[in-house]
Amino acid sequence: MGIIKKGTSYFPDKEFKKRAWINSNSIYKEANKNPIRFWDKLAKELHWFKKWNKVFVHKPPYFKWFVGGKINICYNCLDRNLEKRRNKVALIFEPESVEEREIKLTYYDLYRLVNKFANALKKLGVKKGDVVGIYMPMIPETIISMLACARIGAVHSVVFSAFSPNALKIRLQETEAKVLITADGYYRRGKIINLKESADEGIKGTNIKKVIIAKRANNKIKLVKGRDYFFDDLIEGQSDYCKPEQMNSEDKLFILFTSGSTGKPKGIVHTCGGYTVQACWTAKYIFDLFDDDIFWSTADLGWITGHTYSCYGPLLNGTTYVLYEGAPDFPTPDRWARIIEKYGVTTFYTAPTAIRMFEKEIKKLKEKLNTLQIIASVGEPIDEEAWHWFYREVGKERCPILDTWWQTETGGILITSLPGIGPFKPTFTGVPFPGIKTDILDDKGKSLPANKEGNLVILPPFSPGMLRGVYNNHKKYVDTYWSKYGNKIYFTSDLAYRDRNGLIRIVGRADDVIKVAGHRISTGELENIIDLDKRIDECAVIGVPHEIKGEVPVAFVVLKSGKPNEKMKKEIVKRVEKEISKIARPSEIYFVMELPKTRSGKIMRRILKRLFTGEELGDLSTLSNPECIGKIRKTIGK
Ligand code: WT7
Repeated sequence: MGIIKKGTSYFPDKEFKKRAWINSNSIYKEANKNPIRFWDKLAKELHWFKKWNKVFVHKPPYFKWFVGGKINICYNCLDRNLEKRRNKVALIFEPESVEEREIKLTYYDLYRLVNKFANALKKLGVKKGDVVGIYMPMIPETIISMLACARIGAVHSVVFSAFSPNALKIRLQETEAKVLITADGYYRRGKIINLKESADEGIKGTNIKKVIIAKRANNKIKLVKGRDYFFDDLIEGQSDYCKPEQMNSEDKLFILFTSGSTGKPKGIVHTCGGYTVQACWTAKYIFDLFDDDIFWSTADLGWITGHTYSCYGPLLNGTTYVLYEGAPDFPTPDRWARIIEKYGVTTFYTAPTAIRMFEKEIKKLKEKLNTLQIIASVGEPIDEEAWHWFYREVGKERCPILDTWWQTETGGILITSLPGIGPFKPTFTGVPFPGIKTDILDDKGKSLPANKEGNLVILPPFSPGMLRGVYNNHKKYVDTYWSKYGNKIYFTSDLAYRDRNGLIRIVGRADDVIKVAGHRISTGELENIIDLDKRIDECAVIGVPHEIKGEVPVAFVVLKSGKPNEKMKKEIVKRVEKEISKIARPSEIYFVMELPKTRSGKIMRRILKRLFTGEELGDLSTLSNPECIGKIRKTIGK
């Protein structure tokens, strides 16, 4: 079973096609003729308490799916699997320490834990519609918490555990969550990270009244009486059945924050019905999930990939999947390959930044990885070299590589080649999933022919799992997604082009968002934070290419007065770590006298970037202060 090469692309061979859920192009024809009917049919295979009366309702810029239907995603993930898969392993938890034993939870185990915890949440006063904050590492309790919230109709808002207390705070403030679920600590590269301490700091100035702590590292923590409870104590003695809430299809399921071009992060809202349908079917068709598969996505539960493909997607399909706690290269660079071998992983989903790191640290892999059938990548463009290394060393020239494109906003994968159809073409993500309509437009809204780069957009009826708004911020929703081409065309903020066969290549972002090791970071947000330093007059942050991380931020800082020094650089870095996270820290800080600006006073970041990368500066006619160029060039030494 494998793939065959034709020209510059690869295709599944006969045997591979035979196994795949989807192996004929007819699905595209059928779905694209009537996407609404296509999703209607797929939705019927899930469990609904009540069927919908309208599949799709469009009131631009908002839209709804499966209107009138009642569903519960937790019921679909767990209860629905009890009949056929009660004692099948749902979740394999692999601790970071190689000395610690793994934990396997069957569907029935997970079902009971989730029900108990759902009852515990209710007892603490959590009700349908309440927002619950989740600030947790990669442990089973995180998945149990998400599912328990979904079961009782509480809206979870997961905050990435490596985010700083301040980042946690502004997210909790925005949603006005009253309950936070966290952990005492977790392991990262052999060290214990005290998460509870960050949680304690982060909840100051928020509405959090109750804190639930899962025990993971048994590190010393401070407890506040009447506010803090241990997860294990709360589930003790709870009934293992909690009636699932019958949620309206369009009720909120979760809020997940992400960065935009400027200012504060946006709370992306996902709803119960549409998200469930999309998570289920994209996972099944794209990762070709069968009952004997072992699926592993390395993404953290704090990101959308973790939500859709490390929690809901695999469970909706009754799959066995791996949750790994720690760093993929700890204690040795091939730890991830050893995990694949240990469990016989069949589908491996990771990010280009990880692939580049493996490539650099390992070069040639000794592991055979012969259980792998599909390997996949997400989060940023994958360069040709990394693609080929992944293909050769991990896929052993036998596995399809899926380059999946999507966003926090889209809820699930929207563009990729399907494994049973192909083609798999290095650096191209593929074609839209059946039923998804996209286009590439120029600035005036004209559809572009092959090989012309433009803005990637998504057209009605969009997809069931796409965002239903920005939490408490209609204006941001309209401005970000529905202004560039009007309120019926979703603007992705990505630049892309198509080849002659319609395969899409993602070139990068059209806005000021950069991807640092796959993490979405707004240069505008970074600038706001750096500007908080009273000694700084203004600054500009750009993303520059990095061998492993893809991109890293570089800051250009203008002081109000006085001379810069090394200590100031350290303080700027510290501030970024404190306000966001270590992942956002600038790799270089340059003190300059002036920033290049247009006559209207706009900073020309494009020029800074080109100065840094050594590219031609291009058209400088709008630059008002050309004399700064030489000086900046001298400062950065290029
Ligand atoms: C942005 C969304 C949803 C997955 C995790 C990222 C970039 C995503 C690809 C890909 C090139 C990609 C885009 C997109 N991106 N996948 N396969 N090839 N770029 O979610 O943090 O919301 O970021 O990631 O720029 O807009 P996210």
